[in-house]
Amino acid sequence: MQIRKAVIPAAGLGTRFLPVTMSVPKELLPIVDRPLLQYVIEEAAEAGVEEVIIVTSPGKESISDYFQPHPALEQRLAVSGEDELLAKVAEAGNLAKVSFVLQHEALGLGHAVLMAKNAVGDEPFVVILPDDIIVHSPGVISQMVQVSKDMNAGVIAVEVVPWEVVHNYGVVDAAPVANRVHKIQGLVEKPPRDEAPSNLTIVGRYILPPQIFDCLEKTQPGAKGEIQLTDGLLTLLQDHELFAFEFLGNRYDGGTPMGLLRASLAFALDRKDTSEEALSLLREFQDRTNN
Ligand code: G1P
Repeated sequence: MQIRKAVIPAAGLGTRFLPVTMSVPKELLPIVDRPLLQYVIEEAAEAGVEEVIIVTSPGKESISDYFQPHPALEQRLAVSGEDELLAKVAEAGNLAKVSFVLQHEALGLGHAVLMAKNAVGDEPFVVILPDDIIVHSPGVISQMVQVSKDMNAGVIAVEVVPWEVVHNYGVVDAAPVANRVHKIQGLVEKPPRDEAPSNLTIVGRYILPPQIFDCLEKTQPGAKGEIQLTDGLLTLLQDHELFAFEFLGNRYDGGTPMGLLRASLAFALDRKDTSEEALSLLREFQDRTNN
């Protein structure tokens, strides 16, 4: 079945980016010149997603402002013939239909996804965590849509990480069944290292059946006292198959200041219009540290 809808949780406090997140939502922080959110919506649109449901919280209204038309700005740019800038202004609104639901209390990722229940309805959908920026062509969601069709089941993106950092992630217990594809037997959110079933950790892309919502309704607070998506997935596993997919692509952690800096450098080095300047910037800093 076609995946038409994406849910993007964007209701968090963004504490790792304080103080800037006192007034700018983390999801609007830029990689070069576009907000994190825009990169993940582009990835979804490439995979055929037509409708994006963003879960926000009170105080993060600037996220919806970003997707509104900006007629005064557009008119000014049109009059002065600045077509390239005009195209940039129109980009975000043209990618997909964007709607918003509110999570009033910060009760966890699973609870945030549950807020999108009515907006998603009775069809499979994709959950995208905008902290995880992944570069590849085709994008990770396109790759996962294919795996989901092949296996006729839900798919969760995973990657192998060093054992020292497994406790920061959701971890899957899974057995390989095809190239890069593993059948999930269990999942656990942020286990201590010695209790982790593997070092195959969850990355923020999930293709899920709508039954996940019933599971989330029954899910009790878990790790960090929050209603965890991972715990809802464990309930879903009782009568739905789920597969873990080791995607192709480079992942950047846009959820921390240094991760975002790393992503910004990587993107600036890759982009035709910025690569030269970014490279000389790096050389300049290397010279500085050598002296
Ligand atoms: C969330 C999920 C976790 C997953 C991670 C990926 O955790 O709960 O299972 O591994 O995203 O980025 P968070 O980073 O929000 O603590």
